[in-house]
Amino acid sequence: MKFSLATKLATEDNTHCLVVPVVSGKQLPDVTKQVDQASGGAITAAIKAGDASTSHGKTLLLRSLAGIKSDRVLLVGCGKPGELTATQYVDILRAAGRAVKSLGAASATCHLNDLEVAGQNNHWKLAMAVQTLAHCNYRFDELKSAKSSPAKLKRIALGMADTSAAAAKQARATITTHSAIADGVKLARDLGNRPGNVCTPVYLADQAKQVAAELDLKIDVLDESRMDKLGMNSLLSVGRGSRQESRLIVLEYQGTDKKVSPTVLVGKGVTFDAGGISLKPAGGMEEMKYDMCGAASVLGTLKAAATAKLPVNVIGIIPAVENMPDGLANKPGDVVTSMSGKTIEIINTDAEGRLILADALTYAERYDPAVVIDIATLTGACIIALGNHLSAVIGNDQPLVDDLIQAGLDSHDRCWQLPMMDEYQRQIKSNIADISNVGGRQAGTVTAACFLSRFTEKQRWAHLDIAGTAWQTGKNKDSTGRPVPQLTQFLINSATG
Ligand code: BES
Ligand code: MN
Ligand code: ZN
Repeated sequence: MKFSLATKLATEDNTHCLVVPVVSGKQLPDVTKQVDQASGGAITAAIKAGDASTSHGKTLLLRSLAGIKSDRVLLVGCGKPGELTATQYVDILRAAGRAVKSLGAASATCHLNDLEVAGQNNHWKLAMAVQTLAHCNYRFDELKSAKSSPAKLKRIALGMADTSAAAAKQARATITTHSAIADGVKLARDLGNRPGNVCTPVYLADQAKQVAAELDLKIDVLDESRMDKLGMNSLLSVGRGSRQESRLIVLEYQGTDKKVSPTVLVGKGVTFDAGGISLKPAGGMEEMKYDMCGAASVLGTLKAAATAKLPVNVIGIIPAVENMPDGLANKPGDVVTSMSGKTIEIINTDAEGRLILADALTYAERYDPAVVIDIATLTGACIIALGNHLSAVIGNDQPLVDDLIQAGLDSHDRCWQLPMMDEYQRQIKSNIADISNVGGRQAGTVTAACFLSRFTEKQRWAHLDIAGTAWQTGKNKDSTGRPVPQLTQFLINSATG
């Protein structure tokens, strides 16, 4: 999908589909008014007749309007005139995106940018348009034997009223950056959607090598013997229960002076989580192929950052393992010594994400990071707490947490902070080892973060639990590519502010 800035007047545009807003009341938005007048009142007539609804996200397709060069005009209901909330605006874009995708159109021009959104500017609206329309046009059909016809929609132009050279220049920059983010999201979604028998730890490493070759990143892939030499027993203990070999993938993107300390992103890459000996129930277990979405978001973010040539240094670290039951698998009660030297009692082998992240976070120390952010589909409890709308953020550095929250608002890929205090830390005490890998039923998302905090004491660190946001569950299961937009926005903000 290619995005560009529209350069023609709506009435002169010969695109396959013009997308224009309709609102209630007498006054139509300017662009809609122009199309209406050129077409001899076709839009006002459609509203009057009750065919076109001005309710949020309702769409109506008009074809072959006299006086209009494009084949189709899609009316999109945008409610009452005046300010929309950010969520309403994104919902409107989503409705438009779905409607356009269902047509035979190869090109479209979207004129939703001049709607007013509370607290948001032109730049934000363009960014949301690229992000949301690209999201809608995604499909994953590489594993179907009968290929559905290829996605028809190839080009989307974005229109806006301000046609000054300065505004156009800014808009083009926004579209370029956010197209790069959309590419990163697509990579993350493809990886997430690939099943466990395709997307193994070694496969993830190969994909990372491809990204590195494409974008000229440095890459190092540690195999089990190198991890063994480093003392990564916590990570290795998880992978030992699987026939698939484990890997630690390290990618480096240098976008600014070498001396600038990097942001380190650590992504949980459990390519399938059966639970290990603490086996998960069968129902819905297939969705545990998505347990590498943290890893996918790290790869997607690096791809976005490198494609957009962001002036930042980023290191991505991905512990990649499969969690299976086997004769060599971890057993409840086993104790392992992590790379940090801390010993861990494994009470539940299904709390494996934190076991692999512990060693990856210790490994991160050698890069002397400005900040470390880990991203993980870590706890079912997070879905209970926040649903699939917001990710959870927990950290040991409030300014870093605040920056992540802000990046989430900027990208509409939001997160919400949960607490982390001594009371919760006590829940992961072990009477046998230094710590236990579970903290009981209560506050599961918080105690998981408490566990990670024991391996990040020397660093400015935050943790994103994306168990609810990384994929959509159920019959239409699909990975979302989150939080690639949030993380890339974080990098953009850290470069400029
Ligand atoms: N990958 C799961 C978390 C998960 C569960 C993500 C459901 C998305 C949907 C993780 O490895 C896990 O199994 N966590 C356990 C931890 C528990 C044993 C302390 C959980 O959440 O049940
Ligand atoms: Mn698990
Ligand atoms: Zn898991």
